[in-house]
Amino acid sequence: MALKEKYATIQFKNLGDGRGNLVAVEGGHDIPFDIQRVFYIFGTDNSVVRGQHANKESEFVLVCLAGQCKVRITDGNDTDIVYLNSPSQGLYINKMIWKDMFDFSEDSVLLVLASTHYNADEYIRDFDEYKNIMRGL
Ligand code: TYD
Repeated sequence: MALKEKYATIQFKNLGDGRGNLVAVEGGHDIPFDIQRVFYIFGTDNSVVRGQHANKESEFVLVCLAGQCKVRITDGNDTDIVYLNSPSQGLYINKMIWKDMFDFSEDSVLLVLASTHYNADEYIRDFDEYKNIMRGL
């Protein structure tokens, strides 16, 4: 399956009015899985690269609620970079995709919705091991 079929940007509906903006996301509707976990990354120095792993089981949707950051996505073969700078935009990432988050602005708040509870055993943190798995070795 091509890399582009393993991630997608999602434009959330803005339910805002004269009072300001409001975005609502529901698991199984706006988010293509049931949300089991929420975490958020903030106060990140611009030089920091986070992520640097693939997940055997978890799917994610990333939303940059404030500020901006970039996400590098690779399947070990192709690589894409997605720029996140809007609370109305989500980035869906399927399981078994290697991801790095970087270029965080000082004010960035990156919300992550996950399809699983946290389980350290489903993380692949060695890129060579990841590439071998993807090559079927
Ligand atoms: P880490 O996996 O390094 O975060 P990133 O997604 O940026 O790679 O996680 C940092 C620490 O937080 C590590 O000790 C594991 C813990 N953690 C949880 O307990 N639950 C979670 O949902 C996440 C994402 C991390």
